[in-house]
Amino acid sequence: MPGLDDALRGRLLFGGDYNPEQWPEDVLDEDVRLMREAGVNLATVGVFSWATLEPRPGAREFGWLDRVMDALDAAGIGVCLATPTASPPPWLGARHPETLPRDEHGGVVWYGSRNHFCASSAAYREHAARITTDLARRYGDHPALRLWHVNNEYGTACWCDETAAHFRRWLRARHHDLAGLNAAWGTAFWSQRYDSWDEILPPRRAQYLGNPTQALDFRRFTSDALLECYQAERDIVAAHSPGVPVTSNQMPLFPGLDGWRWAEEQDVVSVDVYPDPAVDWRDPAGPAHGALVADLTRSQAGGRWLLMEQAASAVNFRPVNVPKPPGVLRQWSLQAVARGADGVCFFQWRASRQGSEKYHSAMLPHAGPASRGFARVRELGADLERLSGLVGTPVADAGIAVLHDWPAWWAGQQPGRPSASVDYRELLSGWHHALWRRNLPTDLARPDADLGRYRMVVAPHLPLLDDAALARLVDFVHGGGTLVCGFFTGVTDADDRVRPGGLAPALRSLLGLATVHEWWPLPDGAALTLDDGTRAGLWSEDVDVADAEVLARYADGELAGGPAVTRARRGAGSAWYLTTLPRPEALAALLARAAEAAGVAPTLPGLPDGVEAVRRGPALFLLNHTTEPVTVLLPSPRTDLLTGRVHQDGITLARRGAAVLTPTK
Ligand code: GAL
Ligand code: ZN
Repeated sequence: MPGLDDALRGRLLFGGDYNPEQWPEDVLDEDVRLMREAGVNLATVGVFSWATLEPRPGAREFGWLDRVMDALDAAGIGVCLATPTASPPPWLGARHPETLPRDEHGGVVWYGSRNHFCASSAAYREHAARITTDLARRYGDHPALRLWHVNNEYGTACWCDETAAHFRRWLRARHHDLAGLNAAWGTAFWSQRYDSWDEILPPRRAQYLGNPTQALDFRRFTSDALLECYQAERDIVAAHSPGVPVTSNQMPLFPGLDGWRWAEEQDVVSVDVYPDPAVDWRDPAGPAHGALVADLTRSQAGGRWLLMEQAASAVNFRPVNVPKPPGVLRQWSLQAVARGADGVCFFQWRASRQGSEKYHSAMLPHAGPASRGFARVRELGADLERLSGLVGTPVADAGIAVLHDWPAWWAGQQPGRPSASVDYRELLSGWHHALWRRNLPTDLARPDADLGRYRMVVAPHLPLLDDAALARLVDFVHGGGTLVCGFFTGVTDADDRVRPGGLAPALRSLLGLATVHEWWPLPDGAALTLDDGTRAGLWSEDVDVADAEVLARYADGELAGGPAVTRARRGAGSAWYLTTLPRPEALAALLARAAEAAGVAPTLPGLPDGVEAVRRGPALFLLNHTTEPVTVLLPSPRTDLLTGRVHQDGITLARRGAAVLTPTK
């Protein structure tokens, strides 16, 4: 199977989405010249070009693309060639309305934007396969081709009748017969029993709360249905290009696709990194978000990965779109490389003059090649060139795994829970952030993975835990590992059915608990004090321990005196449980204490706040995310690959400064 190495030519990939179909043809020469000037070695072409390639049903307009591919090749720039299937032409929707998605209310999602296709539509799949086949036939052995890019950010769900039929086929495979489905969904509740397969629908708009397991299965199904579309196109392009890897760029931490499952099907795992909806570049949590996304993508990929898209400066989808301050672009790009990216690419090369993203930044901004923005892009290209020696090197092994699972997320964000303020994604980010602050290297892992290579495993929030995952956690702790579980872990099974006693018995005994009497979420803004003086919030639980040691108790509130943090020793291992959410500083201290006990050391001890250290191959990356200079002490002389300078026993990093240090020879 081809992999990322087949796309690299000894250099980190650097480039962006290139949409020359939006421009008069004579822009091509200038683009190619400026790409070379900036050190670009990869252009992603054709992402949304279906209507240009096939302006009317069955027509083929490849001439323009021939010229683009040839010009890039002549300049030594590789092509990441996209199948154009994320944005069907209007004629497809007009002739085949069944290709258009329907929302939960049955309303049509019209063409006129993008991603308006139904993954279950036979007509969509057929037309997508035809254009993909012709594209692959024409360019499958083009010398510029380095990587295939299938579709773009898959994620559209559909509630139409064709989807309903597809969903039923999927449900038959999962539950076998109607009795199995009725049992799994608990349809005895509210008279929801199904008497025939034809009655079963996607979870459409209903009078009040819907069936939670129906919703959960629909999430699983939608991810699988989109994956079938990916697989079909992947198989077509792969058949015409042996040795050329295939990817599909994903949104990270996106709830719509099961990222673990998707990663298994891709030769290269690639991701688009934009600021989290709640975070931007001025927010101190910004770099922590970048680290989380990088760690997740690396873990999905089982190693190195590709940053397919980021913004050169401002985006256009926030209410106020502040540009990236100087230093941030470089800092976040180096962070991705430090955490395993073998390429840093952008949306997009040249800023569009028309269309809904004309105010989105680009590598080549509206202000042109003499702009400060383009200068930063060129500098970044030069920095990446200096790091060519790191191509293919692994990120240092992480001692800690943060557990993350899509079904747990799906179950954990349903309506009708004890607290709507409990947010899966915030908890995952919060715990990862706590470890990041202490420079503790982490992977992410699916809960049913073999966890044996980690010393410590943390489960920020896995309300749904299936039997396989439970068995892994028990093995991990009995094998000498340290497990730290957040509140409300292991409450339901794979069908989101509450476990007997409200907590999986295997987990209850692992954690050394007797009874969880009641979940006791806290009103928004309410805080608790623990008897170690720290503060906590969001949640509490009325718990009795069996043989666990109580490390901290509630000092106030309704549950005063009850256990807040517990630890059960199991052979050489231990299992910690937090019945509440400590404030960020307290959570960081607690996890650092557990890590120390587990024998996991930070990348560099004693770093100032806001300074990130990551080891990759022979290099130590130091990133100062603060707006003040900082000095970091070095145990022995180091050479900065970015500047060529030798630093004897310390290095001062400028505000938002970075260094990539290797041992001085
Ligand atoms: C990505 C998308 C690009 C562009 C970009 C803007 O999600 O793949 O096509 O829309 O966002 O930030
Ligand atoms: Zn549909």
